[in-house]
Amino acid sequence: MDRPDRPESCGLHVGLIMDGNGRWARARALPRAEGHRRGADAVRRAVEASPELGITTLTLYAFSADNWRRPADEVATLMRLLESFLVRERKRCLRNGVRLALIGRRDRLSPALIREIEETERTTREGARLYLRLAVDYSARSAILTAAGKLGSERCDESGFLQRVNRACHSDPETPPVDLVIRTSGEQRLSDFLLFESAYAELLFIDTLWPDFDGEDLRRAVEAFRGRERRYGGLPPAETIPAAS
Ligand code: IPE
Ligand code: IPE
Ligand code: MG
Repeated sequence: MDRPDRPESCGLHVGLIMDGNGRWARARALPRAEGHRRGADAVRRAVEASPELGITTLTLYAFSADNWRRPADEVATLMRLLESFLVRERKRCLRNGVRLALIGRRDRLSPALIREIEETERTTREGARLYLRLAVDYSARSAILTAAGKLGSERCDESGFLQRVNRACHSDPETPPVDLVIRTSGEQRLSDFLLFESAYAELLFIDTLWPDFDGEDLRRAVEAFRGRERRYGGLPPAETIPAAS
């Protein structure tokens, strides 16, 4: 599933765990809902900055399968914000060549939200500059379990299984593995996000709270990523001895 031979020119897949909306609001004595609302503005900034930074796939963690544990009014706010985000951003995505899709379960979302999701996916399906995946009611463990369950006694290699994991969460099966996972707000955990896809991802944890995140933060993150050495279990290039011919 990982491609040590992946050419430098290939676009990046960045996964973003957008965390810290609640703390952003609390620091300003505002309701948590306001943090989420401002978080939606930060999403637009990240999406706008991505193509120029060489990002061709961006997966944003918007609502985890475990976030249903939050109070009903907070869940309702998040679902409302998601719906209005889809309606509002559809045209902008179309103009900017962004293909927007939701990954995760759909059977627990409201019919109205499903309609907006399907309409957005249909409208933006030709977008070729950026594949934007919003992870909603998403659990990486569930996607892996579903893919494994469907595999039964069949065999497949890692890239075949990646396609199955992608299908299990309604993603384009050809979505590549993740190159870089960024989590905002200082927390250092993955919270059930893209566990199979991130096997060799670089991880970056930054203190910025999500509503404050902007294009410059993303640029710095990508720059830090480009300074990392990815080895995929091998040796750094300088220490690799060519095989005797
Ligand atoms: C991220 O911000 C948004 C979601 C998880 C939906 P939080 O709401 O988790 O913010 P904190 O972690 O409480 O600050
Ligand atoms: C992860 O954040 C989910 C999203 C960012 C949507 P949480 O704030 O829900 O994660 P935990 O509970 O701190 O691990
Ligand atoms: Mg949080």
